[in-house]
Amino acid sequence: MTYLLRLNLDIKEKNFKDNLRFKAAVSTIKAIQKRGHKVVILSHRGRPKGKDGTLSLRPFVPVLSRVLNRKVVFMPDFNFDKAKQKIAASPPRSVFLLENLRFLPGENRNSQTLARQLSTLADRYINDDFATAHREAASVVAITKFLPSQAGPILKAEVKNLSRVKNNPRHPLVVIIGGAKTEDKLGVIKNLLPKADWILLGGGPANTFLAGRGFNIGKSLHAPALLRELKPIINHKKIVTPIDWLTEGGKILDIGPETRALYAEIIAQAKTIVWNGPMGLFEQKKFSHGTEAIARAILKNKVARTIIGGGETITSLGILNTRYKIQDTKNRNLFLSTGGGAMLDFLAGKKLPAIEALRKKHAL
Ligand code: 3PG
Repeated sequence: MTYLLRLNLDIKEKNFKDNLRFKAAVSTIKAIQKRGHKVVILSHRGRPKGKDGTLSLRPFVPVLSRVLNRKVVFMPDFNFDKAKQKIAASPPRSVFLLENLRFLPGENRNSQTLARQLSTLADRYINDDFATAHREAASVVAITKFLPSQAGPILKAEVKNLSRVKNNPRHPLVVIIGGAKTEDKLGVIKNLLPKADWILLGGGPANTFLAGRGFNIGKSLHAPALLRELKPIINHKKIVTPIDWLTEGGKILDIGPETRALYAEIIAQAKTIVWNGPMGLFEQKKFSHGTEAIARAILKNKVARTIIGGGETITSLGILNTRYKIQDTKNRNLFLSTGGGAMLDFLAGKKLPAIEALRKKHAL
């Protein structure tokens, strides 16, 4: 049997062997292979506008081949007839990886044609990409019309763990939102506002609120187009913005020491914590202290049920992990989510298209 397996290899860092999303992907591939099946992996990476070599999935081939102990066959050209023949002629447990699906316009348009083409490559479909569940895309929604479909173990675990916090959060619930995908996150802040006791902001979302609150943010990353929409909540007391920050070249690149202390004080009181998005440009050590302070404050709080998620957040934890061992923790109160926007939308109570598509098929 051949499985079409939707995974999330939307990983930025070059050294991704220990990345949460990568490790999750490998465990699911292995589980399918173990049962003697062939696997055709689907994923996207980044937000390319057409073909973009820097966002190719090719770099995953050698690393996947090594950890799976079998040569992974890369299929870069979306020639579905050729791919179908190759898969049919391959031995059991073979693994194939298709190029970044977002190179095709049909992926984000939820194209039925693309979904049908993809479906010709396999007998069954498994979605184990929770992080893309909030997108109406061909490889997570339309595809379920063309193949018997099921939810993978990672996606199921996400739904189970996030549901506990969504349905029954203990208060105070502190939500920390930073990172770069500013437009996506501002909608979520609005949706989470009734549930949360505090929303602490960093990164692009913080800059947008600071601008709306009348501060000069210079050339900092923000979403000016959304300021009008945010007007009703711009001065909301639950939304905490930085009180000091670090800048370079006219841009805010991290929260400052007073904000670190303020955020840590609020996090210490939390009974539930949700964190998505670093506080600054953590890849540079001098702008990583804000993100580090959040990680440290979360670890210090031994009672809060905590969910940490998002591509960049997980990457930042990987960098901080050498010092804080967050990913290795045996803390049963902590759940690391592979989802970023999907995690926030889910927690805010929104229906996620990919999950709804699986539910329609009684696959979840
Ligand atoms: C993510 O990183 O959250 C997922 O891979 C989805 O990516 P997107 O926000 O570009 O749709």
